[in-house]
Amino acid sequence: MAYKYDVCVVGGLGHIGLPLGIVFASKGLKVCLQDINAESAKIVSNGTLPFVEYEAEPLLKDALKNGNLEISLDTDSISQAKNIVIAIGTPVDEYMNSKTRQFLEFISDLKQYLSPDQLIIIRSSIAPNACEQIKRTLGEDQNWKLSYCPERIVQGYAIQELKKLPQIVAGFCDDAVSEASELFSKISSSIIITSIKEAELAKLFANSWRYIQFAIANQFFMICEDQNVDYDNVRHAMVEGYERAAQLPSAGFAAGPCLLKDTMQISSFYQGGFHLGHSAMMINEGLPNFIVNQMKSKYSLKNRRVGILGMAFKANVDDIRDSLSFRLSKILKFSGADVMCSDEFAASPDFVSKEEITAKCETVIIAAPHSVYSKIKYPDHVDLIDIWKISQ
Ligand SMILES: NC(=O)c1ccc[n+]([C@@H]2O[C@H](COP(=O)([O-])OP(=O)(O)OC[C@H]3O[C@@H](n4cnc5c(N)ncnc54)[C@H](O)[C@@H]3O)[C@@H](O)[C@H]2O)c1
Repeated sequence: MAYKYDVCVVGGLGHIGLPLGIVFASKGLKVCLQDINAESAKIVSNGTLPFVEYEAEPLLKDALKNGNLEISLDTDSISQAKNIVIAIGTPVDEYMNSKTRQFLEFISDLKQYLSPDQLIIIRSSIAPNACEQIKRTLGEDQNWKLSYCPERIVQGYAIQELKKLPQIVAGFCDDAVSEASELFSKISSSIIITSIKEAELAKLFANSWRYIQFAIANQFFMICEDQNVDYDNVRHAMVEGYERAAQLPSAGFAAGPCLLKDTMQISSFYQGGFHLGHSAMMINEGLPNFIVNQMKSKYSLKNRRVGILGMAFKANVDDIRDSLSFRLSKILKFSGADVMCSDEFAASPDFVSKEEITAKCETVIIAAPHSVYSKIKYPDHVDLIDIWKISQ
């Protein structure tokens, strides 16, 4: 069958789907970005990104101009592509269990637009064993070409990283593996073939590993603070010229839509036995509380004007999903502080400028280390809390 598109990315206007679709299109493939978000569709059709994604905009503009990239809010488009990449969001519930049923319902609805001739690639993060469930949902009566090719990029830097990172490819049949490998060879530096279960675990372990690394740094930071010792100096002494400790991160908020979620996905899969994951969560999620308690030991927070710089979940992006800055703000308000929030990338009617924060606040906390914050000059009376040490 002749298909209109080489690739249809379902969830193609999201943080994962959009840069992937743009990169495929930049390699000359005919790409359809299928999504349900009409507002993002309008923004992307005009050649702009709905979120910060470095180096993507010129490629997007080119691909729209040369006709390699189309945007569709119509589910029918899915049946017109040889390769289907599913990149919709996969949230967890209030107990941090993966909402697999919701994802399976989505697959079940999608089935009417799919045929066994197409290659179906799962790109969304999923719980272990979910691929088996997806296969069952599609139905064992047909030989579906089903593949799992997880995403491991750092958000905001997909254009660079898609080229640089090896792509893990797994599939339920040889055709699925070879066709997915061929497709990703067009954009990835190398291909790593694994079993489905290995790929599912490799993806979750990778994020969990990073989350635990941040937790040990944050735990060391808390111990140092209690001892009036500068963690950064300790870290420098540990890592300088000493390769075995080189991966120890600096302290800071570890949050966002992936690290905690993927750690907890392993936990719920392993029936609560992932103790390191749980400890990491307690430490990382407890850091805002630790900071507030330290402040309380120095001064009363009642009516104190406290400014938070950086509401995004990490440096130099506009994504506020699951950012610990909001938890920090909530704890401060609960303690009686008068809180002002600011961000260089994310917009909200509730946010004020960094200038207003530095002019009006008695305490300033750098919660996301956006590069511009390194240049701020704070008045002498300001108590600056900068775990990231960006201002030095
Ligand atoms: N953001 C990251 O850095 C990152 C990294 C690795 C993996 N992931 C995983 O990738 C997946 C997507 O994450 P994201 O950050 O891109 O989420 P996102 O919310 O930015 O994007 C999801 C997109 O899917 C669309 N969508 C939702 N339901 C749809 C439907 N029924 N049909 C078509 N489109 C639909 C949404 O409109 C949105 O544009 C998640 O499973 C996530 O865990 C994310």
